[in-house]
Amino acid sequence: ETTVKDFRVGWVLANPDGAFDRPTIGINGQWPIPQLTATVGDRMILNVHNDLGNASTSLHFHGFFQNGTNYMDGAVGVTQCAIPPGSSFTYDIVFEQPGTYWYHSHSGGQYMDGLRGAIVVHDPAGPYEGKYDKEIVLSISDWYHELSVDLIDQLINVENPTGAEPVPQAALINDTQNLSIPVMPDTTYLIRFVNIGGFAAQYIWFEGHSMRVVEVDGVWTEPADADMLYITPAQRYSVLLTTRSDTSANFALVSAMDEGLFDVIPEGQNSNVTAWLVYDATKPLPAPQPVNELEAFDDFDLVPVDGLAIFDHVDHSFSLEVQMDNLRDGANYAFFNDMTYVQPKVPSLYTALSVGGTNASSPIVYGSHTNTHVFKHNDVIELILNNGDDGRHPFHLHGHNFQVVHRSDEDGGIYIPDDLAASEFPRVPMRRDTVFVEGNGNFVIRFRADNPGVWLFHCHIEWHMDQGLVATFVEAPEALQALQVPESHLEACRAAGKPTAGNA
Ligand code: C2O
Repeated sequence: ETTVKDFRVGWVLANPDGAFDRPTIGINGQWPIPQLTATVGDRMILNVHNDLGNASTSLHFHGFFQNGTNYMDGAVGVTQCAIPPGSSFTYDIVFEQPGTYWYHSHSGGQYMDGLRGAIVVHDPAGPYEGKYDKEIVLSISDWYHELSVDLIDQLINVENPTGAEPVPQAALINDTQNLSIPVMPDTTYLIRFVNIGGFAAQYIWFEGHSMRVVEVDGVWTEPADADMLYITPAQRYSVLLTTRSDTSANFALVSAMDEGLFDVIPEGQNSNVTAWLVYDATKPLPAPQPVNELEAFDDFDLVPVDGLAIFDHVDHSFSLEVQMDNLRDGANYAFFNDMTYVQPKVPSLYTALSVGGTNASSPIVYGSHTNTHVFKHNDVIELILNNGDDGRHPFHLHGHNFQVVHRSDEDGGIYIPDDLAASEFPRVPMRRDTVFVEGNGNFVIRFRADNPGVWLFHCHIEWHMDQGLVATFVEAPEALQALQVPESHLEACRAAGKPTAGNA
């Protein structure tokens, strides 16, 4: 089925935490913005009109591989120019992957101003079809009282030499702090969680109910019991939850921002938000009980239902080391292997196509601050991420999900490729598109470079992206040459007076 939608992206006022109205980015005059729902194979033609007046924009469909349609990936400076105010841009997407996803602006820190929403792709052939009665989508997010442009200014500033990230004022569930979820007794729900926030990972749990994880980031998993989930920005989990037979009480669902990520906890900070499973609307909504005995679920041991075995043979292994440092002008930046990302003038994809197949294989043509790595078509890539920073970071790779074959906390130190250690890797590793590394820890991921394109790899904490914690992966540049960027897409560059070709 094909649907055509028009999204006018513009400023509206919103007040989801009851503090005050703030300018927020809505769609067609509304905020929260719509959830997108499709069935595998559906096509969506989405005409985006930028009515913001004072900012350019873009939309990224997080988690979709965009195989053969790299130019629909929405990453500004990578696969397109930002859509200038007054201009339009058409995304044309076939939803080929089932599961829980989301879409968000990929322009500066803009998604934290509200331009982010959930996407659900139904799977009539899914392994859990018929195993649940109803479905509920719960987005969780953090909320700021100031505009992202102002917060970025405060973050990357000589007055903030340690790079302390702005702390969110509130946590939200489905863009509110007042969510009641009506439920029926003896009913099994598929609950899809998606963290659409910009900074805070959140711990989430139900009182009086248990969860069984069945999906991570679009990958169906063998069922695994969980008391509490830890969901970083951009991660998704689906769980099965069976309600009680007894309808005499209602139950809290709590989501708590991970305060371990905050350099300072402001006075009066409330990092928690409560919603309720409501069996009986005439009964009270109980205040949540304090918890300290719940343990957050470890995603590392999840097993994909498809049983895809580990890539045993690696063609290309490389490592990225994370540092956060106060450099240059006295402000704090983030680095992969001593390089902080700076967006090129020409989107990297347009560079790859205009310099031609042979030159496109040379990382140099993409500019000296794009952290570019080039992969050969169908090579198995192993990426070792060593975190030299003491904070957790959720890393996302566009265009793929990846096998998480190893992860260590700080005692793991620097990971160096090691055959003996590799013999301990899981035979069927967990796959997802966003995985966190522990402070001073490491992880090792593997994927096959079977998706010709230019894909970003970055920390999904928006502040860290703004600080430059981004790398560019150019995959199969020769095979990529067959791609034709729609002429209309180049319009965004021209309207902004930007080049569409050449050496970045
Ligand atoms: Cu949600 Cu660059 O991604």
